[in-house]
Amino acid sequence: MGGFTYIDLFAGIGGFHQAADRLGGRCVFASEIDPEAKRAYEANYGIAPHGDIREIDARDIPDHDALFAGFPCQPFSIIGSGRGFGDARGTLFFEIARILEAKRPPMFVLENVKRLSGHDGGRTLGRILDTLEGIGYRTEWKILNALDFGLPQKRERTIIVGFLGGGEGFSFPHGSGPGRLEDVLEPDDGVDARFFASERIARSRAERHSSPYSPGIWHENKSGNVSSYPYSCALRAGASYNYLLVDGKRRLTPREMLRLQGFPDSFEIVCGDSQTRRQAGNAVPVNVIEAVLREALSASPAIGHTEDLSRIA
Ligand SMILES: C[S@@+](CC[C@H](N)C(=O)[O-])C[C@H]1O[C@@H](n2cnc3c(N)ncnc32)[C@H](O)[C@@H]1O
Repeated sequence: MGGFTYIDLFAGIGGFHQAADRLGGRCVFASEIDPEAKRAYEANYGIAPHGDIREIDARDIPDHDALFAGFPCQPFSIIGSGRGFGDARGTLFFEIARILEAKRPPMFVLENVKRLSGHDGGRTLGRILDTLEGIGYRTEWKILNALDFGLPQKRERTIIVGFLGGGEGFSFPHGSGPGRLEDVLEPDDGVDARFFASERIARSRAERHSSPYSPGIWHENKSGNVSSYPYSCALRAGASYNYLLVDGKRRLTPREMLRLQGFPDSFEIVCGDSQTRRQAGNAVPVNVIEAVLREALSASPAIGHTEDLSRIA
């Protein structure tokens, strides 16, 4: 697969970056508003992300082959309130549309939560697709689950892929099944005491649930029901502290959370526990994006010829 250039919007800690670099990509621009995520991004990729995307003039963004963005999900209701491009104004999705319209890269991949696809009876996603198609992109979307892509995490996400010319041969990958929790978890005796739940919490869980899985991740829902699986439920940036417990006893470590999202151990943790936990919960599963990108790049003959990246280490 030839080299290609990309921009990483709403970059977080670089789930897209990890995936793209595995396939010969070179990041030419990143934007992220959160200072701690920016710090983690720069420490790991040597690129200092620009800040608030709303303040960035598209003319200051270098040309690129692909735009990537896992945009925040808050403004759905605004997108859903009208029709087409004009009504997307004022939302963070509009920032993506604005940059696509100005820069016209041959391909994009966007990611959002599963419920984007069902919001307002499908009209919100419909308007997003109308907007993208109005700019000239042929678009495809699908809900993909990290569990199908070698990760032991049930994380379903709406993925939208767009092509400006080409892309006819694109189809979404199917994946090859889940990964094993054993490959993600650190041995209990190497895990710091601060990750273990109090005896009271562990006892209260054990009174309500006995797990057929070992190891297993215990999940407590909002009504206090406890269930367990041989995989993790979706990591969430703002979830309560004991929402997921390994074998009903301890919280996941930041490294385990990053592994659940497909980040390699070479990813350096430079922020504290709670920031890294939030960043991992916000990230896109690397394996899912890598599989999608592989297909998208093969369906984009125009990409990879803008410069010869084989010389770049
Ligand atoms: C769902 S997360 C994306 C995470 C990323 N895909 C990853 O793998 O880590 C959305 C990110 O958008 C950032 N963000 C929100 N508003 C922004 C803005 N106006 N400009 C730039 N980044 C913004 C948030 O700080 C957050 O890190």
